[in-house]
Amino acid sequence: MEEAKKVADADRIEYRTYRDEADLQTIISMIEKELSEPYPIYTYRYFVHKWPQHTFLAFLDGKCIGCIVSKLEDNFKHYSRIVKKRGYIAMLAVHPDYRRLGLGRKLVKKSIDQMKAEGADEVMLETEITNVAALRLYESFGFVRDKRQAQYYLNGNDAYKLKLFLTSSIVDED
Ligand SMILES: CC(C)(COP(=O)(O)OP(=O)(O)OC[C@H]1O[C@@H](n2cnc3c(N)ncnc32)[C@H](O)[C@@H]1OP(=O)(O)O)[C@@H](O)C(=O)NCCC(=O)NCCS
Repeated sequence: MEEAKKVADADRIEYRTYRDEADLQTIISMIEKELSEPYPIYTYRYFVHKWPQHTFLAFLDGKCIGCIVSKLEDNFKHYSRIVKKRGYIAMLAVHPDYRRLGLGRKLVKKSIDQMKAEGADEVMLETEITNVAALRLYESFGFVRDKRQAQYYLNGNDAYKLKLFLTSSIVDED
């Protein structure tokens, strides 16, 4: 796609949170195309039904060109009695024609801002160790590489677990 048109289009992109079943189908068709890992429908439903405010979609002229699916939960450690609010980014994809326009960054920011607004202490996610685009994107937000998980994905690739610490008062114990 022509570069100038892409840049002009970027100003017209609209973002909103998850609404209904039509959005679910849109998200599934985008994620299935852009991510190597296949997810069953109940994984999608688990996220979007429990945390609709943590799923964001980006639209251009009515067409979805990006989405992020996340959640925020209390994480209770029995031995320490500490409750941490942990955000988790499960899926992120931007349509190939609209990459490198800041869309991925905007979706991640919206997700993290929502988590912060609900008091998140930290955010985590996994990404393939070969996914340079995702690693650069997340590391630009301050995510750090926590662990390498061998053969985490069905395609046999290893994952990095990435973490972003939002509050400093709680010692990380994982
Ligand atoms: C990863 C992905 C979401 C990035 O979306 P995007 O809209 O192109 O990202 P942005 O334009 O917001 O880029 C933000 C930063 O990420 C990094 N980045 C993005 N794409 C990159 C690439 N192809 N190579 C290197 N760095 C890249 C850069 O640091 C970039 O900042 P810059 O453009 O100022 O240099 C997109 O490439 C995608 O959908 N990939 C397939 C699905 C996927 O891998 N999802 C993540 C799973 S964890």
